[in-house]
Amino acid sequence: MCGIVAYIGHRQAYPVILKGLKRLEYRGYDSAGIALINHSLKLYKKRGKVVNLEESVLGQQVDGSVGIGHTRWATHGEPSDRNAHPHRSSNGKLAMIHNGIIENYALLKQELIKKGYRFQSDTDPEVLLYFIEDIQKKNGSSLEEALRIALKRVVGAYVIVLVDEDNPDTLLAARKGSPLVIGIGKGEHFLASDASPIVEYTREVVYVNDYEIAIIKPDELVLKNLGNERQTPYIQQLDLELAAIEKGGYDHFMLKEIFEQPQTIHDCLRGRLDMANKMITMPGIEKNMELIKNANRILIVACGTSWHAGLEAEYIIEELCRIPVEVEYASEFRYRNPVIHPGDMIIAISQSGETADTIVAIEKAKEQGAIILGVVNVVGSSIARLSHAGAYTHAGPEIGVASTKAFTAQLTVLTMIALMIAKEKGTISGERYLHLLNQLNELPEKVSKVLENVDLIKQVALRYVGASDALFLGRGYNFPIALEGALKLKEISYIHAEGYPAAEMKHGPIALVEETLPVVFVATKDASHEKIVSNIQEIKARKGKVIAVITEGDHIIQGMADDVLPVPETDEIVAPVINTIPLQLLAYYMGVD
Ligand code: M6R
Repeated sequence: MCGIVAYIGHRQAYPVILKGLKRLEYRGYDSAGIALINHSLKLYKKRGKVVNLEESVLGQQVDGSVGIGHTRWATHGEPSDRNAHPHRSSNGKLAMIHNGIIENYALLKQELIKKGYRFQSDTDPEVLLYFIEDIQKKNGSSLEEALRIALKRVVGAYVIVLVDEDNPDTLLAARKGSPLVIGIGKGEHFLASDASPIVEYTREVVYVNDYEIAIIKPDELVLKNLGNERQTPYIQQLDLELAAIEKGGYDHFMLKEIFEQPQTIHDCLRGRLDMANKMITMPGIEKNMELIKNANRILIVACGTSWHAGLEAEYIIEELCRIPVEVEYASEFRYRNPVIHPGDMIIAISQSGETADTIVAIEKAKEQGAIILGVVNVVGSSIARLSHAGAYTHAGPEIGVASTKAFTAQLTVLTMIALMIAKEKGTISGERYLHLLNQLNELPEKVSKVLENVDLIKQVALRYVGASDALFLGRGYNFPIALEGALKLKEISYIHAEGYPAAEMKHGPIALVEETLPVVFVATKDASHEKIVSNIQEIKARKGKVIAVITEGDHIIQGMADDVLPVPETDEIVAPVINTIPLQLLAYYMGVD
């Protein structure tokens, strides 16, 4: 994911932007660049890490109190100095950074080439920049006007920030489908993809909305829509501590966030799980309870790890609430012509609240009259604002690219929502309801216990670091956790991994099992325990290596598996939260070796 940072004010822009880019490194990138204006416009770009850029700039003049910076994750054009942002206009006066994808760039590029433009990079943003420049030239319009005209023709998602050598006291920015936060200081403004580069300077921020253009001077912020009408900026206070976005002694954010989970789950339950009165309170859900409990169907849209939380929610809601649930990849749903009936309820799940596919999916569902419940981590994010109601996951900033604490918080919130609905509908007995409240209440302590096993999990991980493939298997509530375990391993260690329902193995994939293949079973005690024991036997019969997440004291599986990762005994509905922890650590230690 690209990251953008920009500054205008009374400080030196370069150190502010450089530090901001480092704060955004967690998003992943393959090149970085900065443009500064000090009388003339200067660009510094480098393939690789921000530190490479910093080194390449050593000894050069980097003065100036206005500038833009970017970390690029290549989409159009290989990672290189040439393709790194910022891009410069053909007349050399403008520089632009962009996050997103300009889908109709090829058409625009052809038009511009016919007019004689020669491109310096292979990227889509350079096309947009030349397009803006061309409109400016052709119409004799201001840069702001040219930007507005250009954006009306652009198809795709973007956050862009522009600087103009001839107008150095103004930054222009615009967004559609990608996040942009503006921090308001005294005589200065900070722009970034998220609040982490801003929080140490100011707590007052404005989240720019889709189709808005921001005209930013050191002491003035004007927002306009594409029709040139002024919009009122909604100023919010940042609820984010600097410590939360720093590593705090851990080697990586992922490890820090894995270890934060007892606290984040506690935060997620706090004020909601009321053990004194034996109830769960979540105002956003309560207000819409009539609609939710009478829903003909619940449709869940999400991507990646959040989709796995959605799949888990399908199992839990259908079991406890007896409402049919369908889980859709937002990235597929948005391009289909899905059937949405009146009375359908959409749950959108997202850590960032900014995933473009999920945003478009819920916009599409909203157009068809659906009610949207958002289960979102980032307060004030686009999905939170687009939802009619919902519940925040309160996991705090998730800086690690691999989602960990956000996932367990999503599972916790979704389980609470299911319990609230089930109680209202009368589809759960009083006894089971109370039992599950107790189980939720015990989660932070049980997660702490799993984390105490870190050394054992690390040892097991180190035994399998040489593997080139891995399989993750589970049944029932443990199937989505197997998928999540496989995703974590792929993402962190680059080892090819697949998640499967354990019972599906015999329908083909079992042919892959051989002596060198680690097969990770999520095999805690639940209704399908006997069945999963048989599945383990099938793997052992083919000499596969079995690593099993088991309930403490499960001597049956312990006697069969090559390695076991024990977790405390937990009800099967709540167990996914616990069972995912050893898989996060397994992926982490297989990845860092
Ligand atoms: O912010 P979101 O939850 O909407 O992001 C969706 C996915 O991109 C995300 O969950 C991704 O799969 C994880 N980073 C994987 O660890």
